[in-house]
Amino acid sequence: MIEIPAAVRDGEPTVWRNPVRRPAPEVLAASPLHWDDVEQAIARWRRFAPLLAILFPELRATGGHIDSPLLPADAEFAHAVLGGPGRVGIKADHDLPVTGCIKARGGVYEVLWYAEQVARQAGLREDHAVLAGPAWRDLFATHTVVVGSTGNLGYSVGVMARALGFAAEVHMSSDAKAWKKDRLRRIGVEVVEHAGDYTAAVASARTSAEQRPRCHFVDDESSVHLFLGYATAALDLHRQLDAAHLRVDAAHPLIVYLPCGVGGAPGGLTFGLKHVFGDAVRCVFVEPVDAPCMLVQLSSGESRAVSVYDVGLTNRTIQDGLAVASASLFAAGMVRHLIEGIVTVSDAQALEWVKRTWEDAGLRVEPSAAAAMAAVIPWCEANREFDRASATHLLWTTGGGLLPDEVFLPLIGG
Ligand SMILES: Cc1ncc(COP(=O)(O)O)c(C=O)c1O
Repeated sequence: MIEIPAAVRDGEPTVWRNPVRRPAPEVLAASPLHWDDVEQAIARWRRFAPLLAILFPELRATGGHIDSPLLPADAEFAHAVLGGPGRVGIKADHDLPVTGCIKARGGVYEVLWYAEQVARQAGLREDHAVLAGPAWRDLFATHTVVVGSTGNLGYSVGVMARALGFAAEVHMSSDAKAWKKDRLRRIGVEVVEHAGDYTAAVASARTSAEQRPRCHFVDDESSVHLFLGYATAALDLHRQLDAAHLRVDAAHPLIVYLPCGVGGAPGGLTFGLKHVFGDAVRCVFVEPVDAPCMLVQLSSGESRAVSVYDVGLTNRTIQDGLAVASASLFAAGMVRHLIEGIVTVSDAQALEWVKRTWEDAGLRVEPSAAAAMAAVIPWCEANREFDRASATHLLWTTGGGLLPDEVFLPLIGG
């Protein structure tokens, strides 16, 4: 018997508080992944940094480190987001170098992981910068990286794969935006379009990859590499909060609002953040009212997959990065006892915050990212016992920096 709140089934904006959240140390100790795994991922990023700085000129200033700024919201914008006084920060992954979205953290990382496996088998020792050379590119050109995506993961995987010389094939759902498909084709990625949804696109990508030799399938539904790539962002954030003298402890919690599609990105971030900040960090996922796949999965209490179609929802939303009908069971299992809860937001709310974020904060975010802003007041209203002014509210703006004008201006009524 599925216990999904009636408002969720009715497609109403909802706040769901996780009844089975448990103390982070207890949950993390029982997890199949550990902090060591995150540290190994950080070490891999470091090995590749000199190569990334060669391949992407925009990364030279940071020596090949991919991260986004932590922006303080000014008092007026913070007041609007919070509906009262308090501190609001923006983790600006909409402006993440190379891809303009959070998927760089997972997608770029997984391609690097694969490149390292291939290169080591072919004799690579230490200096990863040599991988920019023609002999290595010729080797990579005999391999294909395949992924299914709503758009941004495909772009992140595609950009990194092509920069190294891999062939790349991206399977896209019908709700993926045309401009996201076009920009992939422009960098030499083969785009396979599907009439079905994101889950169908991932399934065809999987089948296509199984039929090829020398091929790696980036499995958005269960990849540990993607998950760990996202998790490494927790240390970047820790450094930035320290530098900004922002305390995070039991009396000054950090509430992080994370847009959720299949769950890998917010799941990996939650995993990393809980390791770094313990229960002083509280992770709130945000989903569209018509595609609340993680809410449906977690609130059902089921270990088998439950989709938004099973409860009569459509999975139709302009928050295209979040248009996912079935959550990753891997991510759901990892966050089941860690997250505070989930807020669902309507397309109208997401659009309103695309506009306000542009007009009041000067930031170009896409609807999937604006969902984070829309979630704050509902979350605080549903948790009145909690003093919202004691916390830092962190909006993880997950994409939009590379939205072309012809796509962005209509969103803000221009
Ligand atoms: C802009 C944006 N935000 C959030 C997400 C959610 O990430 P995930 O699907 O890993 O939950 C996506 C996924 O593509 C996205 O494109």
